Amino acid sequence: MNYLVTGGSGFIGSHLVEQLLKKGHSVINIDNFDNFYNYQIKIKNTLESIDKNSDFEFSDKENDIKNLISLSKSDNYVLYYQDIRDKNGLEDIFKNHKIDLIIHLAALAGVRPSIERPLEYEEVNIRGTMNLWELCKDFGIKKFVCASSSSVYGNNEKIPFAETDNVDNPISPYAATKKCGEILGHVYHQLYNVDMIQLRFFTVYGPRQRPDLAIHKFTKLISEGQEIPFYGDGSTARDYTYIEDIIDGITKSISYLESNSKVYEILNLGESEVITLNEMLATIEKTLGKSANKKMLPMQAGDVQKTNADITKAKTLIGYKPTTHFQNGIKKFVEWFLRK
Ligand SMILES: NC(=O)c1ccc[n+]([C@@H]2O[C@H](COP(=O)([O-])OP(=O)(O)OC[C@H]3O[C@@H](n4cnc5c(N)ncnc54)[C@H](O)[C@@H]3O)[C@@H](O)[C@H]2O)c1
Repeated sequence: MNYLVTGGSGFIGSHLVEQLLKKGHSVINIDNFDNFYNYQIKIKNTLESIDKNSDFEFSDKENDIKNLISLSKSDNYVLYYQDIRDKNGLEDIFKNHKIDLIIHLAALAGVRPSIERPLEYEEVNIRGTMNLWELCKDFGIKKFVCASSSSVYGNNEKIPFAETDNVDNPISPYAATKKCGEILGHVYHQLYNVDMIQLRFFTVYGPRQRPDLAIHKFTKLISEGQEIPFYGDGSTARDYTYIEDIIDGITKSISYLESNSKVYEILNLGESEVITLNEMLATIEKTLGKSANKKMLPMQAGDVQKTNADITKAKTLIGYKPTTHFQNGIKKFVEWFLRK
């Protein structure tokens, strides 16, 4: 099959591309190597995803990406340095390829920066996503997997969070853009028969995790003997999901879409295991064999108190089956972190 993956050089995207290529599929990766975090990390992600671990000589961003594009091109993989906000640029790509299904992961992620740059989040996460759906309409592409987020639940008081819960009360611009994506996606499903699964990922971690996310940030700072910023009293809690389990959920969503029609579904992909900030930190300290030096700070705006996924629907509908307990996942993450 020919899959178009957006954001295929990011954390989740690079793991997905790797898995799709291993299964013998063809992948078109669209990524603009945005400045949310260092582009060199995304170049390394891309090289790992296509199993090319050559020593890459970094110079400047534009040249590096040009080199990466020519180095990575093969019969079953092509990388486009392309912004999803640019519809004409996207259209040229759609003209050049037969696309069976799109997995849309490109986005400005991160809750806190969205409070500082809400308009940019709106442009990328809403307009950029609509550009893809407009092209689905024009090019007759009928299958679409879209990254949503657990953040749409806001400070939902009912635990665990189920897809049937009301999500009308997001508490960050990021969360609101993801909810808009779910609603607009339904419009394209309804009007143009685009079969779609919206996946609400619950805090994803593992090798290649984004450096801005707490597990990665804490691991780095503790191993360097630096102070860690610790927000709140440590009682906030997250349903952390290991990357392999997320990839299992995405690939099962793809299979479901390929064998069913008239589909519009929203699915939680979590581990269904709630870990407090205190427990998360203690697990990292134990695994690293080092203690953290905490700088206590107040809770930050936009941060929710707790996330916890009810994954019954994903289990029943697509056979989603997460298997990685937090202690094991952190062990694998720390091993990767110390090796890199
Ligand atoms: N990591 C998590 O815990 C988590 C949780 C919930 C939802 N999500 C969602 O999953 C998706 C992937 O997240 P991730 O953690 O891998 O993030 P990431 O930042 O590592 O990956 C996103 C990729 O999209 C690309 N991108 C950003 N803006 C773009 C644009 N305008 N045009 C083209 N490409 C662009 C980036 O360069 C990056 O490579 C995102 O949609 C995110 O909102 C992630």
